[in-house]
Amino acid sequence: MHVPVVIIGSGPAGLLLSHLLHVQGIASVILERKDRDYVEGRVRAGVLEMGTVDLMKRVGVDARMTKEGIIHGGIYISVNGKRTHVNIEELTGGATVMVYGQTEVTKDLIAARLAHGGEIVWEAEDVSLHDIDSDRPRVRYLKDGNEVEISCDYIAACDGFHGVGRKSLPGVREFEKVYPFGWLGVLAHAKPVADELIYAKHDRGFALCSMRSETVVRHYVQVPSTDKIEDWSDDRFWDELRTRLGEEDAELVNEGDVFEKSIAPLRSFVAEPMQHGRLFLAGDAAHIVPPTGAKGLNLAASDVHYLSEALIAKYKNNQNDLLSSYSDTALARVWKAERFSWWMTSMLHTFGDQNEFDGRIRDAELQYILSSKAGLTNLSENYVGLPY
Ligand code: FAD
Ligand code: DHB
Repeated sequence: MHVPVVIIGSGPAGLLLSHLLHVQGIASVILERKDRDYVEGRVRAGVLEMGTVDLMKRVGVDARMTKEGIIHGGIYISVNGKRTHVNIEELTGGATVMVYGQTEVTKDLIAARLAHGGEIVWEAEDVSLHDIDSDRPRVRYLKDGNEVEISCDYIAACDGFHGVGRKSLPGVREFEKVYPFGWLGVLAHAKPVADELIYAKHDRGFALCSMRSETVVRHYVQVPSTDKIEDWSDDRFWDELRTRLGEEDAELVNEGDVFEKSIAPLRSFVAEPMQHGRLFLAGDAAHIVPPTGAKGLNLAASDVHYLSEALIAKYKNNQNDLLSSYSDTALARVWKAERFSWWMTSMLHTFGDQNEFDGRIRDAELQYILSSKAGLTNLSENYVGLPY
């Protein structure tokens, strides 16, 4: 079997790439290790940049998002209970973000892929890549115990941080920072705390009040990396969230039935380069950001934008330059989002510093940003997403 593009992974990166290619008449197959229910049930990010929204529109997968997504033109930043509004829309001359869960993005893209005859191989085991230096690379996998081999022109590894793609890329250089804390996240049936997201810094640590709809909230609190989910009863979670929001906002917290609870570690990571021969990495396969500022999913989208443009230029005009420069183009934007996510994380979390000087500097930086139009504009233009 020969397919122009083999895509590994059916996360947002793989699904969006497959659909971007499809609308230009370029066929692909997606190989996914997990089953469809697992992929559609995975709870993750919730804030889409306008660039991501535009890509969903471009592939015609925006009907439900337009109906159910919530447009936000600002955020709140709370410091030890004192809340400041950041009017992002005004500071950026009209830019906004869309609150719409990654779970929903994934479901919509899978439905669209299948409706257009796209092929997603669920539960493809032991995926391995071969001959990526040749012009006929091959991908092998096991399906129901049988070995299958596909030959292709290009391989896009959109298989996340633990995937096989990056491990198959020779000479890759890795840059990493691991933080001493994670985020405990809950989904609950409750009314949101405020009309927009609240990013809260408190002496006890960071907290975030987000939402999925008018009746479902997504809240997070910073916890030590060593904490286990069993350490956090629902009551303990709500108490801690209220404490970190301060007395006034604590009154606004609506406790609801918690139906999902998990802890995610925080990490900054970049692999360079993002390509070798006929193999290209996109999304979490190549980079991870800490979630503060919601850049992970949006970077996956910008990567596949660049990669799809490069593949389309090759197939339509036999043009190679965009493919050759893909890694450089993508990494330029990746590093800026890495910087922003690291910066937001450092300003808003507590680090339990041995050296109290560092903590005071982070506090001063946040105070400066909140008091300066230039500072708030810097934060806002990064939050809504830098141009492609
Ligand atoms: P993924 O979504 O990871 O998709 C990769 C896919 O590849 C998966 O379906 C996986 O099963 C499949 N796969 C892996 N290995 C193989 C293999 N060998 N063969 C075949 N298939 C394979 N970002 C935010 O902005 N805000 C958040 O709050 C947030 N929370 C997160 C919480 C968690 C627990 C995690 C892990 C990430 C979170 N992120 C968050 C990051 C965001 O979800 C990711 O950046 C985004 O999912 C990246 O999309 P992707 O398609 O590159 O990778
Ligand atoms: C969400 C996650 C984030 O990392 C963030 O900065 C804002 C919102 C969320 O899951 O809703």
